[in-house]
Amino acid sequence: MNVTRTQVGIVGGGPAGLMLSHLLAKQGISNVVIESRDHDTIANTHRAGILEQPSVAMLTDTGVDGRVLTVGDEHEGINLRFKGESHLLNFPELVDATVTLYAQNEVFIDLAAARARDGGDVRYESEVTEIFDLKTDTPKFRYRSVAEGADPDALQEVHCDVLVGADGSRSFCRRAVRDEPGHQDFTTEYPFAWFGILCEAPKSFPELIYANSPRGFALISQRSETVQRMYFQCDPNTNVDDWSEDRIWDELQSRVAGPDGFELKTGPIFDKTVLPFRSFVREPMSHGNLFLAGDAAHTVPPTGAKGLNLAFADVRVLFEALDSFYSTGSRALLDSYSDTALRRVWKAQNFSYWMTTMLHTTAEENPFSTRRSLGDLESVTSSVYGRQYLAECYTGWPNSRP
Ligand code: PHB
Repeated sequence: MNVTRTQVGIVGGGPAGLMLSHLLAKQGISNVVIESRDHDTIANTHRAGILEQPSVAMLTDTGVDGRVLTVGDEHEGINLRFKGESHLLNFPELVDATVTLYAQNEVFIDLAAARARDGGDVRYESEVTEIFDLKTDTPKFRYRSVAEGADPDALQEVHCDVLVGADGSRSFCRRAVRDEPGHQDFTTEYPFAWFGILCEAPKSFPELIYANSPRGFALISQRSETVQRMYFQCDPNTNVDDWSEDRIWDELQSRVAGPDGFELKTGPIFDKTVLPFRSFVREPMSHGNLFLAGDAAHTVPPTGAKGLNLAFADVRVLFEALDSFYSTGSRALLDSYSDTALRRVWKAQNFSYWMTTMLHTTAEENPFSTRRSLGDLESVTSSVYGRQYLAECYTGWPNSRP
């Protein structure tokens, strides 16, 4: 069997895995990334698009690329809309921060290009089959190529000092240690999903609109001056083929309608997807010399726009721990990685859950809950402390506090 020796083995070449690989390489720490999908599949997978300032800085200040500053769109706030009225939260005024709208697949494209430019060892179409020896000084994994024409029986092995599972919400690495004593999964399901569209249309409003309406939630987001991204709450079993363009626009318009006469600018829809979601955390985020990062360890509903930011926050903590391990030999930061990362994870879980329940409504729900959510929105928007609280969570907690 072909064996590769490296310092850090990374399973998963999405934004978390590639960012970690990039930071480690800059410090001269060798690493190998394997990723089951091919480059173009990830580059064309549409995901959420809000980056906190520290996430933007990780791309610009570490030499990945400055495209996020030119193609990305800096946003000074969001618009909460309920009872047909808009309430603008101005982030610079409230918390002296902004966020940047830059789609996750663009982040991936930049990171993949930076790894290729810097000679990174990223092996696409490579599927992990086994991880083992996790509690030793040399954890290992095996993988096979799933590229067309590859021999499925030809396995390759990677030996490393530390193994990182950054392999997304269906993480092989997380499942491999599921039954270890002390490991626990925490989950909440939601009785709805999001119907997401991409359309060719001008922006309807300068800021993103998060709308609570009697027909359910809608989010009006953007991709560029000419392409817009919008979502509306739907049943998880919805079939996109049952939804004509006219039906989609009627639904979206009804969810943002109000006495102010606000209307969305429409145009041809060229992508329709149903995105189910849940809240999930695995504790602890490590096992021996295996460390989980990003969606492999936790997923959040997209309402708080925290997914990628949380993954990058894990990577920051893990990178510092690895850097310290290789420069001083001390395992102290590796040992505290899970506890440190989980403090931010649970804050983000709380925020994402809160935003989701405050903004969504379901026909079956107790009318008390519907009124209570409106009371929540009223409390937040009518108080400077409420607006500040939401703005701080949305723009991200300072780095010094995990
Ligand atoms: C998006 O633009 O895809 C987006 C933005 C904000 C969210 C979720 C998704 O909260």
